[in-house]
Amino acid sequence: MASCDPVALLEQAFRAGIAAATGTDAASVDPQVKASADPKHGDFQCNAALALAKAAKANPSELARRILAATPLSGLAERTDIAGPGFINVWLSQGALGHLLAGMDAPELGIDPAPLPHAVVIDLCGVNVAKQMHVGHLRATVIGDVMARLHERLGRKVWRENHLGDWGLPIAMTLASLRRQKRDFARLTLDDLNTAYRAAQAEGKSDEAGQAAAIACGAGPHRLAEFDAQNGPALAAERDAKATLLKLQSGDPATVADWQRLIDVTMAEVFATTRTLGVKLGPEHSRGESFYRERLGPVIEAFVSKGLAREDQGAIVVHYADRDRPMLIRKADGGFLYATTDLAAVRFRVQELDGGRVIYVVDARQRDHFKDVFDGVRLIGWDALRDGTRAELSHMQFGTVLGKDKRPLRTRSGENFTLKALLDEAIERGIQQVFRRAAETDAPTHGLRETDLRAIGAAVGIGAVKYADLSGDPVKDYVFDLDRMIAFEGDTGPYIQYAHARIASLIARSGESAAAIAAATYAPIEPAERHLALCLLRFPAVVLAAAEHQAPQRVCAALHELANAYASFYQACPVLKAADSGTRLSRLRLSSLTQRVLAGGLDLLGIAAPDRM
Ligand code: ARG
Repeated sequence: MASCDPVALLEQAFRAGIAAATGTDAASVDPQVKASADPKHGDFQCNAALALAKAAKANPSELARRILAATPLSGLAERTDIAGPGFINVWLSQGALGHLLAGMDAPELGIDPAPLPHAVVIDLCGVNVAKQMHVGHLRATVIGDVMARLHERLGRKVWRENHLGDWGLPIAMTLASLRRQKRDFARLTLDDLNTAYRAAQAEGKSDEAGQAAAIACGAGPHRLAEFDAQNGPALAAERDAKATLLKLQSGDPATVADWQRLIDVTMAEVFATTRTLGVKLGPEHSRGESFYRERLGPVIEAFVSKGLAREDQGAIVVHYADRDRPMLIRKADGGFLYATTDLAAVRFRVQELDGGRVIYVVDARQRDHFKDVFDGVRLIGWDALRDGTRAELSHMQFGTVLGKDKRPLRTRSGENFTLKALLDEAIERGIQQVFRRAAETDAPTHGLRETDLRAIGAAVGIGAVKYADLSGDPVKDYVFDLDRMIAFEGDTGPYIQYAHARIASLIARSGESAAAIAAATYAPIEPAERHLALCLLRFPAVVLAAAEHQAPQRVCAALHELANAYASFYQACPVLKAADSGTRLSRLRLSSLTQRVLAGGLDLLGIAAPDRM
């Protein structure tokens, strides 16, 4: 871990001490160092003596004393004591804190590269062609982007894979219906596509239901022909869709061109939204379902030839011993399924993209699907990397966005909110908020041009929505409450942005040059300064943990804690009016590092950090 991480340094010291005191091998020792919850018990504690004493039937506080005596803490600790039954408490020295802060004070902010032997593949966004993005895609896009940023920050090769729903019967239905209506494909909007998609879906459903009912009640051929006549348009639509799908699959140029148009119209809006969101996702990250079309037949062949799938009433299915639910991989009519494409995609991602970790940022409601797919992949061995090691496949599940009524977020007429409508509202609210502040004569934004204020407002609105989406445990549902999200107080994005902007204007007001501040000596003496320093030093380890545990909320929590620590520091320790110039510069440097860590953390979350608010 980073050279400026006090936990890592203490672990190293205590490992040596424990090895010397107990005669064991240092590498096998767990030093159990953690930050103390209460400053009365020091900055950090080593809790290893208890477990070791228990195993050796020795006296824990006696063992703790021996460990402490053998641990090289000089230069690191200014005070130690042994509390309770054998906890070792450590207070870092001011010199050590200053030294660690100086080590962190570089563009990398103490985050050491943590390369992996293989790439990380992140399945994110996952929108569907001809459908508006709704709030569920917010989560798949925003959380996926942050996971990608975290791994990139650690120096890992990352593939962002937008598994676009651009293939299969639903798309063919939409395409066929638009062509029947003789629509001008050059002028279509996403709304048009969405309407056509819905209409085509509804048509298909009534048709299937009607036919199924007719068959179920034992209707003979004559009755079915009659049904056919009554439902002529619907059946014709279905035949038309199937014919269109065939043309698409065989590469008929005119059909492919129209299909490409549907994709372009959809993606233009998706990219407009990802730009608004500040998410790194472009055309180079889209590898849709259609990409795998030639790889689906081979999936079936492989499963069948290995005896892992078998025929069941004309369909091909994989049965698992531990669940009743079979995984359907080919329909009786020869059509492939969502699972077939995902099997082909895992195979590609592991074997061709060299994905040692494949992370699916997808709605928790798809958990059965991914369990089945991953188990199928392991059965057939497609999780084997070229070097023979196994890839880690994980479904990073996220919960549902709820309305204030605790039901999935819908408009009053019961429709899904489009993501665009939601973001437009958030931006509008952010702009109002920023204008309100700028009206105060002592606000740093007072007198700024309207375009600048609007840009800051947009950053606040989007920051609010993203932070709210990221700050909880991803798997939990959350209530979309714009009033709460956008407040400048509380555990919100704007609170952190505001903390950052306040420090930026404090430093500007100090009149000190960046060089003078960078040359200052860190001297964290007061309790609030020490507390702030310890918060700062935690940041690199938090970034690593957030990536490894797939927990972006840890970055949010660390930034919130840091903003709070800075507020307490600012209350307790005068900066511009410090007693002497050394203290003033030390505090300015602490402020500057805090500002950069807040900005760096917000950047990992894909949230803008304006200098004035
Ligand atoms: N398009 C899918 C949906 O809207 C999400 C795709 C998720 N990724 C995947 N590889 N299945 O439900």
